[in-house]
Amino acid sequence: MLEQGAPVTVLDVRPEDQRTEWRIPGSVHFDAYEALKAKDPNAMEGIEGVDLPWELPVVTVCAAGNSSAVAAEQLRERGYDALTLEGGMKSWSLAWNTAEVELPETEAQVVQVRRTGKGCLSYLVGSGGGAAVIDAAVDPEVYVGLAEERGWRIAHVLDTHVHADHLSRSKMLADLVGAKLYMPEGAPVSYPFSPLGDGGAVRIGASRLEALRTPGHTTESTSYLLDGKALFTGDTLFLSAVGRPDLEASPEGAQEKARALYGSLRRVFGLDGGTLVLPGHTSEPAGFDGEPVDAPLSEVRGNTPLLGEDEEAFIRKIAGHVAPAPENYERIVQLNRCGKMPEEDPTELEAGANRCAAG
Ligand SMILES: [Fe+2]
Repeated sequence: MLEQGAPVTVLDVRPEDQRTEWRIPGSVHFDAYEALKAKDPNAMEGIEGVDLPWELPVVTVCAAGNSSAVAAEQLRERGYDALTLEGGMKSWSLAWNTAEVELPETEAQVVQVRRTGKGCLSYLVGSGGGAAVIDAAVDPEVYVGLAEERGWRIAHVLDTHVHADHLSRSKMLADLVGAKLYMPEGAPVSYPFSPLGDGGAVRIGASRLEALRTPGHTTESTSYLLDGKALFTGDTLFLSAVGRPDLEASPEGAQEKARALYGSLRRVFGLDGGTLVLPGHTSEPAGFDGEPVDAPLSEVRGNTPLLGEDEEAFIRKIAGHVAPAPENYERIVQLNRCGKMPEEDPTELEAGANRCAAG
């Protein structure tokens, strides 16, 4: 409904603290959690005080879809046209949409594939009938379908680093379509891959994707430069923040990685200011608006105050950054290192907002 722009009100019935953590953009809130849990038949009493346009359908949402189903039932008893989001925020974490990236002066076309709930951004890059996928984060079939629609064949699959906030679908995708699977050289994974060292390149039709080693967020973190025009930065650089260097590192390790990140960013900002930054995450949910999350390097510099700091201040601020780690990140990293999906429902592990950025 959101994708089609259909009129709908999303009603979040979770407690405030869960909502602060992450929410569906545009949703309204009515905390009925305790009452629903206590099986109160009047749990939705007081809903009339919430701005719910009577003539629009309401979709209730909770963490896993159980309380919200009861809430929808009670709303229907009150005369509302109410539905529930099956699977709750866990299924919302899998919702995705796309945006076409404007990229003049190159043969390549880029589609940004956004896992909206989690803010994961992945990319399908097509040129001359061939295609590559970078940082696959949704069901592999999604990329296959998008490539088929455009008459492209996915021949290359790449990750910018070993992810900590979501399960990489890259190996699954490469296995599914028989594509070559690349990882940065030295990536701590146990499955076979084609290593890309600094300056290593992948040909996609008439285009060229070049590896730019950008350690910091993780040791192996690598950005990919497309025809000198666009840079897939993974979690090294976002549009107004930089990657956090403290996941999977000791406090001393974080210092060292912060220093490496500083050097990597200097290198990135040595590229032409018009180079389009295509990050691996967005902290705001990517809307169903077809607007790509991207910006030229020169704009990113202006929007990221940390980049104005000298080396020591940068390191102090970044390494001292103590935001909560992504939920379950250790287990996610462990699975990503083996290239495996969990036996249980992956959304159980992946629920929660993205937390890969610092500053
Ligand atoms: Fe990351």
